[in-house]
Amino acid sequence: MKNHDVVEKNIGLLMLLAVVAVSFGGLVQIVPQFFQDETTKPIEGMKPWTAVQLEGRDIYIREGCHVCHTQMVRPLRAEVERYGHYSVAGESVYDHPFLWGSKRTGPDLARVGGRYSDEWHKAHLYNPRNVVPESNMPAFPWLFDNILTGEDTGKKMAALRAVGVPYTDEDIAGAKAAVNGTTEMDALVAYLQQLGILLQKKR
Ligand code: HEC
Repeated sequence: MKNHDVVEKNIGLLMLLAVVAVSFGGLVQIVPQFFQDETTKPIEGMKPWTAVQLEGRDIYIREGCHVCHTQMVRPLRAEVERYGHYSVAGESVYDHPFLWGSKRTGPDLARVGGRYSDEWHKAHLYNPRNVVPESNMPAFPWLFDNILTGEDTGKKMAALRAVGVPYTDEDIAGAKAAVNGTTEMDALVAYLQQLGILLQKKR
């Protein structure tokens, strides 16, 4: 009892011990995740984004799609029934930064790959109300007009390789040629069509 009195009456010591206790709890939860295959290894069959998909991903970020759309299916029955298999950490190991998001103005897109045709996506992005009359998603018509040169794509891939994405020298050397001349729309749709397809439930 005596010792406890000392701690309770000495605010500095109390704070110090509280920090130690909380840090210990945090470390026990967080540190093991850095060493678990489940959280650090890509899931089976996963490949890094192709040059065109990578540019599509950057357009997704530039246009703020992640502000209205999450890419994170939570392991709750309602979500799994609506979207498909819940998201797992191994799906995000090549994503820097990940785009899990935190707000759903529109539906989650973690498993949208293959759900619609390319034509549907293009019509929808050109003007969402053409295909979903009640939609309040903004239109992105300029994506049809902007043509990518691929000038920086190789550099982006080299940067990603530096943080562990397994791009080969050929991937990087061929990036410009692969991207050059592609419309932003085609790149974005190529990205969307790959989202989450490895763990989709069969439809
Ligand atoms: C202001 C919020 C907002 C922004 C920004 C936004 N969306 Fe949406 N999105 C929505 C809403 C709301 C819906 C549901 C209605 C609809 O289908 O249009 C939706 C639907 C979608 C769907 C159909 C999903 C499904 O499962 O039916 C796709 C795909 C999509 N958005 C992609 C995008 C992309 C790509 C971008 C960025 C270029 C984007 N959205 C930006 C709000 C937004």
